[in-house]
Amino acid sequence: MNESGGLAGARKPVAFGDMRGWIEALRAAEELRVIDAEVDWDVELGTIYRMAQGKGDRPAFLFRNIKDYGAGARCREVFVGGQGAYSRLAMMFGLPPDTPIRDLVWICRTIFNERIPPVTVESGPVKENVLTGGDIDLLSFPVPKWNRLDGGRYVLTYAGCVTSDPDTGLHNVGIYRGMVGGKDAIPVLMWRAQHWGGHFTKYEARGEKMPVAFVLGWEPSLGFTAGAPVPRDISEYDVMGAIRGAPVELVPCETVPLMVPASAEIVIEGWIDPDPATFMEEGPYAEFTGYYATERTAKHTARVTCITHRDNPIFRGTVEGALPYSYAENAIMSSIQRSATAWNALERAGVPGVTDVFGMPIHAGVNMAVQIRQTYRGQAKQVASALWGDSSSHVRYKHVIVVDEDIDIHDYAAVDWALAWRVNAGEGDIVTFPATWGAGLDPSVRRRDADVHLFGTGKWHRVLIDATINLDYPPERDGRRYPPTVEPMEEDKRAALARWSALGLDDLN
Ligand SMILES: Cc1cc2nc3c(=O)[nH]c(=O)nc-3n(C[C@H](O)[C@H](O)[C@H](O)COP(=O)(O)O)c2cc1C
Repeated sequence: MNESGGLAGARKPVAFGDMRGWIEALRAAEELRVIDAEVDWDVELGTIYRMAQGKGDRPAFLFRNIKDYGAGARCREVFVGGQGAYSRLAMMFGLPPDTPIRDLVWICRTIFNERIPPVTVESGPVKENVLTGGDIDLLSFPVPKWNRLDGGRYVLTYAGCVTSDPDTGLHNVGIYRGMVGGKDAIPVLMWRAQHWGGHFTKYEARGEKMPVAFVLGWEPSLGFTAGAPVPRDISEYDVMGAIRGAPVELVPCETVPLMVPASAEIVIEGWIDPDPATFMEEGPYAEFTGYYATERTAKHTARVTCITHRDNPIFRGTVEGALPYSYAENAIMSSIQRSATAWNALERAGVPGVTDVFGMPIHAGVNMAVQIRQTYRGQAKQVASALWGDSSSHVRYKHVIVVDEDIDIHDYAAVDWALAWRVNAGEGDIVTFPATWGAGLDPSVRRRDADVHLFGTGKWHRVLIDATINLDYPPERDGRRYPPTVEPMEEDKRAALARWSALGLDDLN
């Protein structure tokens, strides 16, 4: 049992009520920067945000003065970065903001196994304004063109995309990208291996359009769970309830048979038709890899039938793509939820001896490091095959690095040291699992293999790097498989420390 296990008791779940409650909590915790100066929706806002967001250590931003969306505009404010810092993820979980990252992974593991189902209410603030027919105009909201080379203005960057399984009615909420294609049209990128892609395949087989509802702006648990690979047979609404410690209150949509949070800022309802004649051009977009992808091609398109929103709604969006100086929200969140999900998958598969799991934020969990207490030969291979066999591996765990217990997987130097000295490619430490599913957005994937319509997913050659001490070696070095490290013996360290002050070394502690 990991020592962080006691954290579950320390958690005091918070129901913020809506995105406004969350923004107020951030303001009180000095986790929010309000920008009152005018900012252009056209590239400027996204550029400022990307330059200011830092490496998981900067505030969220509320832009309150958007060019062309002044007095009288339907929507005037844009909120970004709510979950772009570990301190704010801790707040979302109901933990102190300085909770260590390792503990956030641990608490996330337990939350992902908890459920509080939603409840239905008659109405809510999201129904304060109901727009249909000619009143629908996506650009009456200040949708940014986030990046210079984006193919258009992306309205879906952080929206919870709600769909339901036509066989069971189970609701899924995922974050998937979508561009403004006209007043009432949103071409989207839909990978069939994602959960809404699974729903769509079922509607298509019935010869039906798929109903969708895009939820922009609610409590932080919405984006966190929507961006996480919550298993197919569990609704994200149940996990949101677990995070906030209270059921999510849902209302029925106006024109689609779906349920959405009653206090959301904006909900866009519509239908996606399987008929390629209805597709519209979409892309490229600055993606989670840190590169633009995929190219501009005809994509599935949601036709909007209704928009409901609160009075003075606040638009919620984000930028994607981590760069070494600037980690996007998805990257920060992924390092927690993908690590927690991977750890739970290893536990479900019965892999023993797992002592830590972490995917660094810079690549959003695409490389996954696993620390194990190795007791038998082949354990690292068991780790990799369990991860790659889990449904959460779709766009993650491309490279699995397994290390021994003495290697801190939150420390780049420690992992690099293990890679240098515990990997021998000639001894089976590098294993390739070719031509599996994977992220088509990865620029290292050939163009042909990233065709969403042909293949429904990308194509990854996965690699295990077994950086554990090889148990296939006999213990022939004085009874050991590996020689001792140069780390001084405990008794020698104690003796040295006893003389530390006398040697005038106190400043070098
Ligand atoms: C900010 C953000 C943007 C994302 N954009 C996309 C996207 O455009 N397409 C996609 O397939 N997944 C995207 N993801 C990842 C998915 O949300 C994630 O894979 C999630 O597990 C999907 O939900 P599902 O497992 O219910 O299908 C994004 C995640 C975040 C946090």
